[in-house]
Amino acid sequence: MPEVHPVIGFYSPSEDEVIWKTRIERDLPAFQFELLEYVEEKQFVKYALVWSPPNGLLNTFENLKAVFVLGAGVDALLRDPNLPSIPIVRLEDAGMAQQMAHYVIYGVLRFQRRFEEYEDFQIIKQWKPLVHIEPIEQFSVGVMGLGAIGLVVAEQVSRLGFPVLGWSTSPKEIDGIRTFYGEDGLVRFLAEARVVVDLLPLTAATEKLINRKFLNRMSADSFLINIGRGAHLLEDDLLEALEQRVIAGAMLDVFEQEPLPLENPLWNHPKVIVTPHVSGITMPQVALDQIISNIKLLESGGTPKALVDRKKGY
Ligand code: GLV
Repeated sequence: MPEVHPVIGFYSPSEDEVIWKTRIERDLPAFQFELLEYVEEKQFVKYALVWSPPNGLLNTFENLKAVFVLGAGVDALLRDPNLPSIPIVRLEDAGMAQQMAHYVIYGVLRFQRRFEEYEDFQIIKQWKPLVHIEPIEQFSVGVMGLGAIGLVVAEQVSRLGFPVLGWSTSPKEIDGIRTFYGEDGLVRFLAEARVVVDLLPLTAATEKLINRKFLNRMSADSFLINIGRGAHLLEDDLLEALEQRVIAGAMLDVFEQEPLPLENPLWNHPKVIVTPHVSGITMPQVALDQIISNIKLLESGGTPKALVDRKKGY
């Protein structure tokens, strides 16, 4: 009889599984790598590496010991009503934080240096220096969500000389960053930030957080960057706020519905930049480093890092 190896199962609609298979087979030779949808002997699946698996899939592996999510956000997975009660481990950063910091820096500089206006002038061949540039000392960048990614974003923006504010649901102290928390803190944070960056996880408390009331608390010359989750933002409220000049503009990477439907007015709104959920792309080799060391930890009886707290939702 052939020897039976425990299985590491994989599911992702977007990743190239060959990269994952090659590393897993090299670094965890005691395991067999298989695609979760095609596993025949389901009882041998011990670990699952997944992004957006169909609801109910994970529950079909009765000996599954842990699920590794190939991203930072676990909101979609936690919505599976049949999710087995086993540890869920997410990626803490995996190369995403650096990319997201760059995305934010691009947006902040674009707003502060008024590059959007030059793009419009170029179309009509208009030579028009805009002499009013706001000093960066007055251009506060507010980061909402101070986890592994938020901290890197805050620190890199701060290194450029922009004052950085941080907001989180519970109090946090971070060197060089003025932090705010809770409902009261949010009012003061929004009044001061010229750019509000959403990096929050999607939970019951953060869903629809960026609504009319929230936008009304921002200043008329401020901008929103959403790289958290589309469900944080009420898109109709944003469109209304832009229409009524309640805020000055937005750069959005995540949407209520993805891909963004063709008829969605955000696509060609002059005050909105749209990108297709790319602000932080999982770097497979960095993610694999994390996952492989966590599997080794679990195999030797340890507790993996970045274990998801289901009550908190991240
Ligand atoms: C992407 O959105 C992620 O959560 O990693």
